[in-house]
Amino acid sequence: MSSVSEPVISVTRLSKVYRSGFRMKRVQALTDLSMEVEKGEIFGFLGPNGAGKTTLLKILMGLCEPTSGSALVFGKPPRDAAVKARLGFLPESPYFYDHLTAREFLRLAAQLSAVPKSETAGRVTGLLRLLRMERSADAQMRGFSRGMLQRMGIAQALVADPELVVLDEPMGGLDPVGRKEFRDIIIDLRERGKTVFFSTHILSDVEMICDRVGIVVDGRMVEVGRLNEILTETAESIEVTVRGATGKTQKILERVSQHSIKSGDELMLTVRSDEDVDKIMAICREVGGIRVVGLVPHRKTLEDYFMAHVERAGRAS
Ligand SMILES: Nc1ncnc2c1ncn2[C@@H]1O[C@H](COP(=O)(O)OP(=O)(O)OP(=O)(O)O)[C@@H](O)[C@H]1O
Ligand SMILES: [Mg+2]
Repeated sequence: MSSVSEPVISVTRLSKVYRSGFRMKRVQALTDLSMEVEKGEIFGFLGPNGAGKTTLLKILMGLCEPTSGSALVFGKPPRDAAVKARLGFLPESPYFYDHLTAREFLRLAAQLSAVPKSETAGRVTGLLRLLRMERSADAQMRGFSRGMLQRMGIAQALVADPELVVLDEPMGGLDPVGRKEFRDIIIDLRERGKTVFFSTHILSDVEMICDRVGIVVDGRMVEVGRLNEILTETAESIEVTVRGATGKTQKILERVSQHSIKSGDELMLTVRSDEDVDKIMAICREVGGIRVVGLVPHRKTLEDYFMAHVERAGRAS
């Protein structure tokens, strides 16, 4: 029996060292990585190329053994048959039997996932519709574009209507329309109480759909949290616009700010912190006749945030 609060994915102090080549060169892919994914969460696992994303996903799928630490899915080791029955997986480079048609391929996937025979046809048709592959349903997959194959990969991960969906770079090969459709699919999964864990380096897509993200750089988890919290902490500057500041007052206000732009009777001041905003407000109150007409915080984009971490890790190594 699993308890209600048990995380769907639980990773504790996981490390993975690959040994490759004739000299058995050591590659440390993951270092002391811990994280949890709760039921019903959409969790984005973000990192640049070579960060260790696929390695973690393979460990979670039981396709690769950790060097140390533990990974549990539904509270059990990933290789447990009961775990496999509850999850769907899109690998990084899925292999397709390309002589099959889209429909045949999904039927086969359903059969391999022990979907009841009576439900298979309906399930396959539903997925072909969901992934907008109806028009190519009976065409051989050998002629499919990269984006079409990616859709088939996502469809096969969903065929058994799993509780947990694990996707390695699900948006690879998809055009903007495909990405939007993928996001809608993920939102639909969340509405149905499913848990989704996916890796990506496409930050803007994560920004729109994830409840939480983990940022991995060089095999280490550098941050885990709600995106809005991660980004709020990193508000870079605040833009304060005041009206009616002239002469000496303008000079005083400009001294508080990083830089300023005067446009008509409006003065736009860029400041670093909330305290500086308070200072500006206080000056305006004291002088009188000056009104604050705009207050806009400028957050770092996730891209900026991500790059800062990558650069820091680069400097440290
Ligand atoms: N089978 C392997 N043998 C040796 N080294 C490996 C193996 N698989 C991965 N690595 C190395 O481990 C590190 C992490 O690789 P991994 O594929 O997990 O990264 P990733 O985050 O998925 O990258 P990408 O965004 O390019 O898919 C890299 O340095 C990679 O070269
Ligand atoms: Mg990868």
